[in-house]
Amino acid sequence: MLHALVEKLSEYPRFFLFCRGLLESNFTVIRKAIRDHLGSSPDRKVLDVACGPGAFSDLFPKDAYTGVDLNPKYIRFAQENHQGQFSVQDARALEFPEGSFDDALVYGLLHHLSDEDVNAVLAGMQRVLRPGGRVLFIEDIPTESRLNLVGHLLHWAENGHYIRPANDYRTLLEPFFRLENEQLFRSGVCDYYMARVVADRNTEESSRTKSP
Ligand SMILES: C[S@@+](CC[C@H](N)C(=O)[O-])C[C@H]1O[C@@H](n2cnc3c(N)ncnc32)[C@H](O)[C@@H]1O
Repeated sequence: MLHALVEKLSEYPRFFLFCRGLLESNFTVIRKAIRDHLGSSPDRKVLDVACGPGAFSDLFPKDAYTGVDLNPKYIRFAQENHQGQFSVQDARALEFPEGSFDDALVYGLLHHLSDEDVNAVLAGMQRVLRPGGRVLFIEDIPTESRLNLVGHLLHWAENGHYIRPANDYRTLLEPFFRLENEQLFRSGVCDYYMARVVADRNTEESSRTKSP
């Protein structure tokens, strides 16, 4: 029942942002990680995959930022409250032409998706990024400290059915991207795996690596 309630309340963009901001100390650590690893240049086009209500669009120049999300309510909120281009899209079937972006951000998506769906997202991202493009992944890992009761409760209540240990995220990313930097960190009550990767593997190479 709590799961259903959390899911229902998450539908409201302002409520979603308020709760997450509270639990994650106003995203101070996350915003710094995004700034440090992706920078902000008008010359680099950025795709925010699963951008939610667009809370991180202000870290990028408005003409360089595109956010996509499956939830039309979040996209409508983002369009009304933030600058940049926003559209409803399924991250598993990105609709942009090949090589459209220099950089990408994926924050809090993969832990909602099965391995098969993650592979579809990563293959699509590899396609829409220019060779040499960078991606910053920030994903929930199991709560580390037994004393972090709110963190445990949050993971229990939210619908992240695929919260993985860092090694499992790495195993999913490696066939598609070259890993440049990895970190584990805490943001408020949430523990994260962060990876900055480069898209310099070609699609053929990736499908070869993934076949049994
Ligand atoms: C934990 S939220 C993170 C949102 C945003 N990155 C943020 O940090 O505010 C997960 C987001 O993934 C989106 N999502 C889930 N499955 C998706 C899919 N297949 N394609 C695009 N977005 C998806 C949800 O609608 C939700 O906005």
